[in-house]
Amino acid sequence: MMTADDTFGAKFGARLHNGHALVVGASQGIGLGFVKHLLVDPRVERVYGTYRQIETAGGLLALADHPQLVCLPLDATDEEQIAAMTAQLQTRSDCLDLVINCVGFLHSATIQPEKSLRQINADHLLRYFQVNSIPTVLLAKYLLPLLKTSSASVFTTISAKIGSISDNHLGGWYGYRASKAALNMFLKTIAIEYHRKSPHTIVAALHPGTTATRLSAPFHRTVPPEKLFPPARTAQQLMAVIDSLTETNSGEFFSWDGSPLPW
Ligand SMILES: NC(=O)c1ccc[n+]([C@@H]2O[C@H](COP(=O)([O-])OP(=O)(O)OC[C@H]3O[C@@H](n4cnc5c(N)ncnc54)[C@H](OP(=O)(O)O)[C@@H]3O)[C@@H](O)[C@H]2O)c1
Repeated sequence: MMTADDTFGAKFGARLHNGHALVVGASQGIGLGFVKHLLVDPRVERVYGTYRQIETAGGLLALADHPQLVCLPLDATDEEQIAAMTAQLQTRSDCLDLVINCVGFLHSATIQPEKSLRQINADHLLRYFQVNSIPTVLLAKYLLPLLKTSSASVFTTISAKIGSISDNHLGGWYGYRASKAALNMFLKTIAIEYHRKSPHTIVAALHPGTTATRLSAPFHRTVPPEKLFPPARTAQQLMAVIDSLTETNSGEFFSWDGSPLPW
């Protein structure tokens, strides 16, 4: 039997066998793309997909008969729900090999990304941080025991290049940008603590590229068709990036094509 030490330093993709994966925010968009991708991945034995509300989770719940899939309700902004979900996971899986948080928020009927300081609203800013930043650090807090038990695991969140401080040349979108920058700082800090407590867990931030989902829909007009990926393609591309990771990549930020991004 292979021990964790035998495989240390090898790419995650080569170490994934009979894997148990959790996709948070799997009702639609990139998260649902990941669930579909993982369900046909022969290295994956169990996929957990979370959804916040039945109304938008039709695509995920339509797959619920799949023997490998377990659908779990979760509002990722609610710590008690994350704790309860973790307890449920622990009754079904000894460990998690892959956690992908795809929860994200850019606009709603009442909140639009700010074009200038005049549009700044404190409640809207809080909402961006509540959905885009905080769930990841809560998930890291509760899921550590399950990730630690795996001989090789990945903990990742779908971030956005727009959250890179050094890459910010355009300005605007204050709340979304800052919440993704905060998310990136959470991931970097989680990577440092996990390095001590769960050295076989790779923590990474991923930029998916512009993907045709509800979140990006109002902005598609300005995106050339070849640069607008269907969610299935994004999931495939990001899974290739995840597969290529080793422990030395923990605490790093990658684009959909595997290129490193500056924090
Ligand atoms: N699409 C792009 O071009 C693009 C580019 C860069 C980064 N991203 C990032 O990629 C990630 C996925 O976005 P997407 O494009 O797939 O958007 P999407 O289709 O709008 O999906 C967002 C997901 O987040 C879930 N969600 C929102 N608030 C939640 C909450 N409080 N609790 C639990 N789940 C919640 C949604 O659930 P409901 O169905 O219940 O709302 C949905 O499953 C986001 O972090 C986004 O910022 C996307």
